[in-house]
Amino acid sequence: MNYRDFGNTGLKVSEIGLGCSRIGRGVFYNNERESVRVLNRAYELGINFFDTSDTYRYGQSEELIGRVFKGRRNQLIIASKVGNLASPLGRIGKKLHPLLMPVRHLIQPFTNPLKKLWKPRRDFSSKHIKQSIEKSLTRLQTDYLDLYQLHNPPTWVLERGEVFETLDYLKDQGKIRLYGVSAHTIGDAIQCLNNPNISSLQVVFNMLEQEAVKELLPSAEKKGIAIIARIPLARGLLTKEMIVQTGPPTDRKKLQIARAKVEELSFLINGERTLSQAALQFVLHRSHVSVVIPGTRKVKHLEDNIKAPETPTLTKEELKRITLLSQ
Ligand SMILES: NC(=O)c1ccc[n+]([C@@H]2O[C@H](COP(=O)([O-])OP(=O)(O)OC[C@H]3O[C@@H](n4cnc5c(N)ncnc54)[C@H](OP(=O)(O)O)[C@@H]3O)[C@@H](O)[C@H]2O)c1
Repeated sequence: MNYRDFGNTGLKVSEIGLGCSRIGRGVFYNNERESVRVLNRAYELGINFFDTSDTYRYGQSEELIGRVFKGRRNQLIIASKVGNLASPLGRIGKKLHPLLMPVRHLIQPFTNPLKKLWKPRRDFSSKHIKQSIEKSLTRLQTDYLDLYQLHNPPTWVLERGEVFETLDYLKDQGKIRLYGVSAHTIGDAIQCLNNPNISSLQVVFNMLEQEAVKELLPSAEKKGIAIIARIPLARGLLTKEMIVQTGPPTDRKKLQIARAKVEELSFLINGERTLSQAALQFVLHRSHVSVVIPGTRKVKHLEDNIKAPETPTLTKEELKRITLLSQ
């Protein structure tokens, strides 16, 4: 595992981290055992950066990280998030999980239309943040977070700026070492560059979505702000299992275009390198990305991802073709 500077914070992070949004059981499945295996294996393989959130798996992602790494806390960099609220439907589902599991095949088809009724809710008030951090610390069995990130804050929250006073307060209290923003758009991330106290920006960066390259990466580098690259596999589109996965562009047309682009990328696959490994290499070849955080709930996939830097380096010609694809 290679380690990189986390901006100018003095921290060294594994260049491949673990995106933990898939860690923990869902309403209709229980992958707790496999999640525990993924976390332990990630640690064994040298990963020290774990990206989670208070809402991932209704808190179970944080809970499992806390449980698995008890006693090893100081060797890890734990990044969590705040500002999104779990859906009431999910909260009820979590409580009823043992009752729902045996009849999940009967109920599951009806849940998607129900989910559409739910509009995501957010709360970036000082009160909510101060309450949430206490709950996150309890679930994670720790008394500090290395990095606390605002989770997709709306532009007006960033413009108003009060939220940063709360984060400064938590830093003074020793509850967090650093804070950053997991930005909804690249434009929001660029706006955050003007805040001198922000240590990191988390943004979407993958072979299909390269907007970060133009302005954000060079400017963040100048300011010493770390970049965390999320959704590097385009939520599974950039893997050999792409056919059965759904991607971030939710409407059909966008998905069709994205799939056609993925087909064009098949020149990257050879006996020594899979598409997902090429996708991770692509993100890592930007030296200013501190850490890329592919998400997985399978040990096998984790192990494949970790091997990405050892696979044949992308050539200049290959990089050029990938860049052209996003234009
Ligand atoms: N707004 C935000 O702050 C925000 C939003 C989204 C994501 N994130 C962060 O970014 C992380 C990554 O995002 P993501 O998980 O949505 O997308 P991703 O990393 O681009 O893709 C994950 C998908 O790829 C599959 N996969 C992973 N490795 C694979 C491999 N080697 N071979 C085949 N399939 C593989 C996973 O399935 P399996 O589980 O079957 O391996 C999953 O379906 C999240 O965990 C979270 O930490 C943050």
